[in-house]
Amino acid sequence: MKDILNAPFLVEMVRTTANMYQHGWDERNGGNLSLRLSEAEMSEYLDLKQVLREIPTGFDAPALDGMYFLVTGTGKYFKNVQYDPARNLGLIRITDSGRTAQLLWGYSDGGKFTSELPAHLMSHAARLQVNPENKVVMHCHPANLLAMTYVHNLDSRAFTRTLWQMCTECIVVFPDGVNVLPWMLCGTNEIGVATAEQMGTARLVVWAQHGIYGAGADLDETFGLIETAEKAAEIYMKIAHLPRLNTITGNQMRQLAEHFHVVPREGFLV
Ligand code: 13P
Ligand code: ZN
Repeated sequence: MKDILNAPFLVEMVRTTANMYQHGWDERNGGNLSLRLSEAEMSEYLDLKQVLREIPTGFDAPALDGMYFLVTGTGKYFKNVQYDPARNLGLIRITDSGRTAQLLWGYSDGGKFTSELPAHLMSHAARLQVNPENKVVMHCHPANLLAMTYVHNLDSRAFTRTLWQMCTECIVVFPDGVNVLPWMLCGTNEIGVATAEQMGTARLVVWAQHGIYGAGADLDETFGLIETAEKAAEIYMKIAHLPRLNTITGNQMRQLAEHFHVVPREGFLV
């Protein structure tokens, strides 16, 4: 067997968690990340018949039975993943209609997956219905998006329109917009269900006064989505208290959508 620490998926996961930490999105144990893997990409690195532990998930996710995920551990610091991936990450196979996670590698100190596993797995299931290529769910606490949820209307359409107006490329990067959930108790099945429901119509879901979830086909794309929304929120927080002399108009956004061949979320531009 080859050393799993050299597996491209593991190297990229480690780089991404380090990068998220460096962006200031993941203080202490803040944030969590899950990456769906295929048997083919793991077979050189792991004996998939060797189950180290079985961990109950506490919820059903029948659509994910037999799927594999590399997931950050609960209580683990993103800044430390690069120094000890086996302690801070775990590779699980979902079985038993989603009720059990079989640990195949990682959580080496006896730990377990993130407390936000319900939001991650339910979001994976929701996004897979929209895009069978979806592989990543990313959660973090970027300061400007969070700040914006204290001073901006939390209606998803209004929130999206403001972000779209803050940088020319926003509507091109996330034409599906951003859905916003009001404050809810985190780490619960309820917030998982609510997040997954919002993931049906957008790849970005803001948790008011907490953070953001992003979903995408790979780690880079998902990172870039959150990076772009956070940049837009940063600009909003720089200008919100100043007189606005100029903006990006609806007509200009329509031109962008046409030129870059994207379809803005129905009803959000009008
Ligand atoms: P975990 O340490 O359980 O991943 O929780 C961090 C977090 O951001 C909760 O929303
Ligand atoms: Zn969080």
